[in-house]
Amino acid sequence: MTPTPRHPALSATDPDLAALVGAEERLQAETLRLIPSENYVSSAVLEASGTVLQNKYSEGYPGRRYYEGQQVIDQVERLAADRAKALFGVEHANVQPYSGSPANLAVYLAFAEPGDTVMGMALPMGGHLTHGWSVSATGRWFRGVQYGVRQDTGLIDFDAVREMALKERPKLIFCGGTALPRTIDFAAFGEIARESGALLVADVSHIAGLIAGGAHPSPVPYADVVSTTTHKTLRGPRGAMLLSREEHAKAIDKAVFPGLQGGPHNQTTAAIAVALHEAARPSFRDYAHAVVANARALADELLARGFDLVSGGTDNHLVLIDLTPKQVPGKIAAKALDRAGIVVNYNTVPYDTRKPFDPSGIRIGTPSLTSRGLSTDHMATIADWIDRAVTAASKDDEPALTAIRAEVAALMSAFPAPGLPA
Ligand SMILES: Cc1ncc(COP(=O)(O)O)c(C=O)c1O
Repeated sequence: MTPTPRHPALSATDPDLAALVGAEERLQAETLRLIPSENYVSSAVLEASGTVLQNKYSEGYPGRRYYEGQQVIDQVERLAADRAKALFGVEHANVQPYSGSPANLAVYLAFAEPGDTVMGMALPMGGHLTHGWSVSATGRWFRGVQYGVRQDTGLIDFDAVREMALKERPKLIFCGGTALPRTIDFAAFGEIARESGALLVADVSHIAGLIAGGAHPSPVPYADVVSTTTHKTLRGPRGAMLLSREEHAKAIDKAVFPGLQGGPHNQTTAAIAVALHEAARPSFRDYAHAVVANARALADELLARGFDLVSGGTDNHLVLIDLTPKQVPGKIAAKALDRAGIVVNYNTVPYDTRKPFDPSGIRIGTPSLTSRGLSTDHMATIADWIDRAVTAASKDDEPALTAIRAEVAALMSAFPAPGLPA
């Protein structure tokens, strides 16, 4: 008897697409996924995001919709928003942004006018495109001024940030980013925002799960708006949320809808609700702390093997490696690691002398491997693989990469991933 396919309807209707989904499942099962913005969602989150809630149009907000038939959807959205409020300790949660970039755009629409000065961390220093970087709409439609980290420490220089804020008087100051391995001092940013008359936007997309699990301080007491994706350390579906005090609720809601978006993606809202429910459990606290413990252990093992880490290590889920001393460009290393079954992304490092599409670093993180149950005991092995693969990349040693790939697959087969076939 042939086994029932994992996605029977999909396999019957569109075998080509079903085969691609199966191939991606195998890739995600067999490889060591170290991209710090990725994760494995639970089967419950996957199920919620594939429900008939997908079939409903719901422009507006619970109790104030432009379409009828919202008896159930209103409850779903209220549940998600209430769970977000409880988990992060905020007065208001908008769970409709389609993703992190539109969430940030909504913040601009709510609180700034085109041409206004906005301040954020520069992209090559670890900030995000949507924090006013030149190629982004936020840098074209607003006047972006950008801060960075100190070259000698890799840490934010708050005297320089204060000086810039007092000189430029931005409407918004963004803190948070995509390649920041250290704890963000939200209190210091809050003080600077108050002194300069700016609103503080804490973009915690990368660390939302760590905050929910008590493994990183919360920005809530200091930030006017907290923006976050839901699909990174928070382990939810691809989506986003904007959190704030009640005083900003109206402006944010108006900016998300009708300002920027039409109907919310109700199946995603449902999956966000499930992820928030999971993140409120005691086991998620263990997960968040394990993510950090694993990242610290991995950083230590890499340092012991002579790797140069930006800021000298990590406080969170992410490690940024400057490969300049290893004389292997980030892109070549990332592609070699991929062939070895270790998935990372190449990344600029602060003050990079190479181009963003061919930078000096790679960025790695521990959210996904921790979701599979790997512990600090495994970090020496992983650091060893990275070391061997980077060395192999420098010598074009393809057999070495093939050998590592087999070792990776063997270890990963002992740690089934959430949401994937066992
Ligand atoms: C800090 C930060 N903000 C915003 C975003 C944008 O999120 P999305 O890719 O969902 O638009 C990201 C994604 O990498 C991010 O890291």
